[in-house]
Amino acid sequence: MFDLPDDIQEIQGLARDFARKEILPGAAARDHGHIFPKEQVRQLAEMGFLGMFVPEQYGGAGLSTLAYVVALEEICYADASVGVTMSVNNSLACWPILAFGTEAQKQKYLPDLASGRKLGCYALTEPDAGSDAGAQRTKATPQPGGGWALDGNKIWITNAPYAQVAIVYANLAPEERHRGVCAFIAESDWSGFKVGKPEDKLGITSSATSELSFEDMRVPAENLLGEERQGFKIAMATLDGGRIGIAAQSLGIAQRAFDLAVAHAKSRIAFGKPIGANQAIQWMIADMATRIESARLLTWRAAVYKDGADKARASHMCSMAKLAASETANFCADRSLQIHGGYGFSKEYEVERLFRDARITTLYEGTSEIQRIVISRAYLG
Ligand code: CAA
Repeated sequence: MFDLPDDIQEIQGLARDFARKEILPGAAARDHGHIFPKEQVRQLAEMGFLGMFVPEQYGGAGLSTLAYVVALEEICYADASVGVTMSVNNSLACWPILAFGTEAQKQKYLPDLASGRKLGCYALTEPDAGSDAGAQRTKATPQPGGGWALDGNKIWITNAPYAQVAIVYANLAPEERHRGVCAFIAESDWSGFKVGKPEDKLGITSSATSELSFEDMRVPAENLLGEERQGFKIAMATLDGGRIGIAAQSLGIAQRAFDLAVAHAKSRIAFGKPIGANQAIQWMIADMATRIESARLLTWRAAVYKDGADKARASHMCSMAKLAASETANFCADRSLQIHGGYGFSKEYEVERLFRDARITTLYEGTSEIQRIVISRAYLG
């Protein structure tokens, strides 16, 4: 598979037109003002982009993971902050409910999340459980009459300030590490659900990120997601898909940085000729293009495997796609800035935002070092 099927090309065209008309023009202002893209997220919901692989019976678009990553790349080409908001809702909130939820949970939560009536977030990371996700300390205490009480703190939770639904991980027995972890579906208006201060970030500044804390938050028994103690596996399986989303985000950033570099290389005159006539610039353009194409093929392949071609291999392929694409986003943003010279260092030029936005992609949903652990284990055991 080297070309996209016709139906996916149609979705790509739709996403591209929308992103360039409705998202790109305001991206710089939202970035400078740290303004959450509420209106753009509402429009994404209208287009069916907030529940792309949720089946139609639960109010979603019923599309494939490949359609999702292709659309997400286009959204991130215009604004990676809008893209991550979309990615978290699709991959990290809708997907685990779809994959592990009861019929009642699917009917209760998916139509609201897929339609944008509610926004979702994914509460895994803690101050002492980042890369070591199994070290979950948020405590889940079973209650005598049934249900649970949750106590603990989460950090770096994308979408948290605007989310009404959270997939929360908590541990029945922290001394048993990942084996005690349970997953829950929580609602932001429950007593004990507290949203902390928004993070002041280097990049993706118009996406919303904050701490979450739970103080004796009561969770009814029916809101346990999956089985008791299955939480860590739910978290990891969810992140497999999430990582392809971040790969798509990285591709969007990389492609935009590349296109701006090509335009600048053709139009900027130095020493009496366009700077693109110099081999130093030509090689940068060639390296960027080659890395983008390679990362894109890995991302598309991971998406196809995630949808079932070979589930056993999907996990490390998702990590490969994320590793390659996120390193490519940083490479391309850096080279594009170099080609722009001093202009690239100015906040008046878009490449300055791309350089900052790219930086998160090798960090969240597993650092590049974590992706290498997942990939190497597939070969070495
Ligand atoms: N699917 C299902 N199960 C999986 C799995 C997967 N992909 N990966 C591992 N498991 C299972 C294992 O089979 C194992 O099961 P058993 O207990 O039955 O043997 C269990 O989970 C534990 O696995 P490991 O021994 O591999 O666990 P580990 O402690 O060595 O950790 C890790 C593995 C890959 C390093 C993992 O901790 C990890 O991915 N860390 C990074 C966390 C991360 O990506 N956080 C991102 C936060 S969310 C975010 O960033 C969102 C955002 O802002 C946008």
